[in-house]
Amino acid sequence: MEKMICRILLLIILTSCVSGSFVVNVTQTSYQAEENHNITLEWTFTIIDDMSLISVLCYQKIEEKIVVLYNFVHYFEVSESQDEKFSGRVQSDKDALREGRLRLQLSRLRTDDSGLYVCAVFTNYSSGSAKCEVKVTAAADQLRDRL
Ligand SMILES: *[C@@H]1O[C@H](CO)[C@@H](O)[C@H](O)[C@H]1NC(C)=O
Ligand SMILES: *[C@@H]1O[C@H](CO)[C@@H](O)[C@H](O)[C@H]1NC(C)=O
Ligand SMILES: *[C@@H]1O[C@H](CO)[C@@H](O)[C@H](O)[C@H]1NC(C)=O
Repeated sequence: MEKMICRILLLIILTSCVSGSFVVNVTQTSYQAEENHNITLEWTFTIIDDMSLISVLCYQKIEEKIVVLYNFVHYFEVSESQDEKFSGRVQSDKDALREGRLRLQLSRLRTDDSGLYVCAVFTNYSSGSAKCEVKVTAAADQLRDRL
């Protein structure tokens, strides 16, 4: 419950104090992988030297629901806001953030990881976001294709 409240507060804070637009791109608009394999999702954004300005929120969007994949707030990764579904399966490259690259490796893929992923990058003054599509095929499908 507490975690839920934190998450909601976080979303409100992140979305309310933001006006201007900030460039965020995806390096790939769609990814395809097999169940249990890994993928690395990648976004790029305008380089900002002062990390105290940057926050990032990446989530899987399931209908109107937001399932948090990754959260970074002014220097720190906030693992508490990550959804249990992704717990222990996301590896980030914090150093890449300084170079305007957001790289998230998602391991042990599940078929329900399929869907739309959005990363929003916030500075103290602006924000932007970009999305990509992930398709995870069941290992059983692969097996069937081979037969
Ligand atoms: C984002 O994409 C646009 C259009 O392809 C490109 O001009 C711009 O340099 C990119 N910016 C970043 C930060 O990746
Ligand atoms: C950006 O906002 C955070 C949180 O309010 C603050 O700690 C930080 O100093 C700000 N950075 C700048 C450069 O204004
Ligand atoms: C997938 O990622 C995990 C954790 O980072 C790693 O231990 C494993 O070797 C990776 N597997 C493949 C097939 O790359």
